Amino acid sequence: MVLRTQVAIIGAGPAGLMLGALLARHGIDAVILEARSRDYIEHRIRAGVLEQGTVDAMDEVGAGARMHAHGLVHDGAILRFGGQSHRIDFRALTGKGVMIYSQHELVRDLVALRLGAGAPLELEVEDVTLSGLDTAHPEVRFRRAGHDTVLACDFVAGCDGFHGVSRAAIPADQLRIFERDYPFAWLGILANAAPSSHELVYAHHDRGFALLSMRSPEVSRLYLQCTPDEDLARWPDDRIWTELAQRLAADDFTLTPGPITQRSITPMRSFVAEPMRYGTLLLAGDAAHIVPPTGAKGLNLAIADVRLLAEALAAFYAGDPALLDGYSAACLRRVWKVERFSWWMTRLLHRFDDGDFAHRIQRAELDYVTSSAAAATTLAENYVGLPLR
Ligand code: FAD
Ligand code: PHB
Repeated sequence: MVLRTQVAIIGAGPAGLMLGALLARHGIDAVILEARSRDYIEHRIRAGVLEQGTVDAMDEVGAGARMHAHGLVHDGAILRFGGQSHRIDFRALTGKGVMIYSQHELVRDLVALRLGAGAPLELEVEDVTLSGLDTAHPEVRFRRAGHDTVLACDFVAGCDGFHGVSRAAIPADQLRIFERDYPFAWLGILANAAPSSHELVYAHHDRGFALLSMRSPEVSRLYLQCTPDEDLARWPDDRIWTELAQRLAADDFTLTPGPITQRSITPMRSFVAEPMRYGTLLLAGDAAHIVPPTGAKGLNLAIADVRLLAEALAAFYAGDPALLDGYSAACLRRVWKVERFSWWMTRLLHRFDDGDFAHRIQRAELDYVTSSAAAATTLAENYVGLPLR
């Protein structure tokens, strides 16, 4: 079978689904191909903090109703170290806040929007291959329910995450890779427990970093710095709660435990592939870059990329290729600032085994960030989200 569309989108994560929704508003046809099932993508537990730009994009495509009904608006967050809490007041420092809303709920909203509009979303596709990327007539081949299909298109949007096929389809000598691994990972849990703080708590502790986050007034999301090869079997519930209580401890704070419903280990990595375009293939989101989760930026960066990409494709079809020609450079300028912030937050808050001098510098930086309005504003304006360009 041969199908034809304007933009073939590989991957129905936040980047692919939002790109499809934004393109539809410009009257541009797209087919989204996704390897997993609807149930799988709608239950995959990942990020939970939305910048204003991400909230705006959800509203722009008409998918924001559930987010506004159930999301929690936060005007600040707590940095905790030496047993003391220091609030960074995002609203006072920047005029903006963030929205706490699960990534999988955002995916559910975008899937419902797409299917409700009758727009093509091919789930559980297999053996996706890209060809003709250095021509004006690329093709995507895939198999679905045993049928081989060729999707002819003008552009391929590679929104298939870090392990997808899109970036791998670019000849190695056309890409430059920048990466950094960290000597730790995060052990994350979801628990049926009322959050023990109204705002997120980022805790620096001699035993390692801990983060208290949430999904709703009834569900807590918590993380512990652990070793990259940590064995979850060595972490019974009691040990997790005891460790969290030690690292998050402060005079005015009591941690409320509850039944743990999900647990996982998230590796920490910084990664950028340059450029984000090869011929008629355009990369967006985790397919092109990864940030460690400390700054809560992965999902937001993916949405920022596709906002720029949708604008560029709309201008292209309206007869002006300049934005598309500048797509990679425009994204990378922002990507590197977000890479810098995520790396900096990671360095600021985790326990590194790099000696006493480095540790004292880290404590001085925490003290500086929480006592200087200039330094706190720098953190706040990055956390709530930098301008699109
Ligand atoms: P993805 O969400 O990865 O979506 C890519 C999609 O492409 C997936 O649905 C995948 O199934 C599909 N796909 C892959 N290969 C193919 C193929 N060959 N054909 C068709 N489809 C394909 N960020 C935070 O800010 N905070 C967090 O706490 C946080 N936790 C995370 C935990 C984990 C385990 C991971 C992996 C990431 C986490 N992130 C977090 C990062 C954030 O979730 C990502 O940055 C975000 O999902 C990026 O969106 P995306 O659409 O670019 O990619
Ligand atoms: C989350 O709620 O999952 C979360 C919040 C903040 C982060 C990372 C993850 O920095």
